[in-house]
Amino acid sequence: MGHATALLRPAKATKSPALKGDIRVPGDKSISHRALMLGGLAAGETRITGLLEGEDVINTGRAMQAMGAAIHKNGDAWIVNGVGNGCLLAPEAALDFGNAGTGCRLTMGLVGPYDFDTTFTGDASLSGRPMGRVLEPLRLMGVQVRAEAGDRLPVTLRGPRAPAPISYRVPMASAQVKSAVLLAGLNTPGITTVIEPVLTRDHTEKMLRGFGAALDVETGADGARIIRLEGRGQLGGQIIDVPGDPSSAGFPMVAALIVPGSDILIRNVAMNPTRTGLILTLQEMGADIEILDPRLAGGEDVADLRVRASELEGVTVPAERAPLMIDEYPVLAIAASFASGETLMQGLEELRVKESDRLAAVARGLEINGVDCTEGKDWLSVRGRPDGKGLGATSRDAVVATWLDHRIAMSFLVMGLASETPVQVDDCSIIATSFPDFMDLMAGLGAEITES
Ligand code: S3P
Repeated sequence: MGHATALLRPAKATKSPALKGDIRVPGDKSISHRALMLGGLAAGETRITGLLEGEDVINTGRAMQAMGAAIHKNGDAWIVNGVGNGCLLAPEAALDFGNAGTGCRLTMGLVGPYDFDTTFTGDASLSGRPMGRVLEPLRLMGVQVRAEAGDRLPVTLRGPRAPAPISYRVPMASAQVKSAVLLAGLNTPGITTVIEPVLTRDHTEKMLRGFGAALDVETGADGARIIRLEGRGQLGGQIIDVPGDPSSAGFPMVAALIVPGSDILIRNVAMNPTRTGLILTLQEMGADIEILDPRLAGGEDVADLRVRASELEGVTVPAERAPLMIDEYPVLAIAASFASGETLMQGLEELRVKESDRLAAVARGLEINGVDCTEGKDWLSVRGRPDGKGLGATSRDAVVATWLDHRIAMSFLVMGLASETPVQVDDCSIIATSFPDFMDLMAGLGAEITES
């Protein structure tokens, strides 16, 4: 599923009346990928409701089918019949992950240790992203790697006859790297250990346990998490209800905060504490976000969120919070553009290696829309305009480059709902990777976003 430049679909967002409505955002992307992977691996039937049907997740489903899983949709549920742990089949063709880093990197872990060739490809964005962070631990386990210079896609992996369990300290705050090593441990004899100095999203650990893996987590003397997984155990099918994606909820949430008079309800949003950094930061800025009916659903915390337009004030977002809101900085930068004073976001080095260099993409987009901001090596500061005066495109040529990055596209479309003049983005088709109904859902709230 490549994303050809010829198919770019420009879009424009215009100052909108108060947003009102009661919505649900699509299923969590991280949980959806993992549900298809573990369901496809586990023996027996896994039944998934609420699955994100975005391009990224569909590509993961296709990859699992290519390795032997049977997947079909029955009404609202996706039914997955898995192969059994250790029993993935060699795919006949390259696995194309499109735009999805999570699908690609986690599957590299899942199938890397198998004693057959698997080739991984992706779109222009994914092909530019570093894969060495996952290939390095796989090499330590004995996996042979054939990659383009610089460990970029396309990559072909071949496992050894007997993979070696490793103890691996994750060198950057990355749930994808942690997850890839744990998934590789599933088909490796003995105990695979992952040491995580900084907590990142823990869906893999939770879900592995749910599927029956022997996994335990302990905190070391230095505060690092030590995760141990016993390889070659049996996994059995599960029932999974995927909650709404808090990262996707960030877009209507910030839109409601910055469009005067707005009052919206977003139902069934995942509130896993490793994912709620944006809500905390916005509340520190003065946002009126009410967390209603907090509850447990399928092992994950969820709640409904009532969000009302608010006067925001700039804050300093500490580096330690970055892993808990790593995908939310683009939309936080939009909120900051409408806050009084300065917002300083620190510890952003990982933003440079997302679907785009998000730090640069956000800074350039803000600049061409009149926002006073400064881009540092790993930080961004934004000085906002609470009334939105002077913000927005100043000419027809002021079009935000989205660089095949769904979150850049959605963030700037949110900006245009409250800026003095419209905001234009060069492409909205990429939004389908994570939030296929974004345009309709926003229109339902009263947002004026059109393809231009
Ligand atoms: C994800 C982890 C994060 C995040 C991505 C989803 C996951 O990536 O940005 O959107 O599902 O594990 P990193 O592990 O690169 O931080």
